Amino acid sequence: MMLRGFCAAEAAALLRDLDGVAAVAPFRHMITPGGYRMSVAMTNCGTLGWVSDGSGYRYSETDPVSGAAWPAMPEGFARLAMNAAQEAGFGGFAPDACLINRYEPGAKLSLHQDKDERDFGAPIVSVSLGLPATFLFGGRKRKDAVRRIRVANGDVVVWGGPARLTYHGISPLTDGEHPLTGRRRINLTFRKAW
Ligand code: SIN
Ligand code: FE2
Repeated sequence: MMLRGFCAAEAAALLRDLDGVAAVAPFRHMITPGGYRMSVAMTNCGTLGWVSDGSGYRYSETDPVSGAAWPAMPEGFARLAMNAAQEAGFGGFAPDACLINRYEPGAKLSLHQDKDERDFGAPIVSVSLGLPATFLFGGRKRKDAVRRIRVANGDVVVWGGPARLTYHGISPLTDGEHPLTGRRRINLTFRKAW
């Protein structure tokens, strides 16, 4: 479900909180299990963080760069995730993981399913900040038709229930300038990992 502009009014505050997170757990380009450097830079906050390296994808309680726990999830992040899930019909969402994706011009995320979580009962809440992008939303099989959806600053997409394992991705980011983020798009993806 698309919640257009759901957090537009708080975008600046979310980005300020993000600066605090990134000061402790800096953005980095993770390596895929196949050995490729991801074009999207990532970090995490919350109890668990999604990581990728030569041995696979998984959730980790610590940041492999520092060896320390991930920064706590800012209060405003957790509240937004819960409210957006509620609005989309998923009451009681309590994310333990927030993956933060940073896209610069040309960066993309290929079609994938979010399936590293222990159970698929909780929805995914995906927040867009800064430059707009084209969100690809397919079906439960990789070959299913893909919808192209414009996502802009403040938009929140929520999927869960029968749609929980929908293939999704982001087309290469078109260059531009956004008053809050400059030449970047930021995505916050909230999940219940464990
Ligand atoms: C993701 O699937 O992890 C991110 C999607 C997005 O950047 O909107
Ligand atoms: Fe994803």
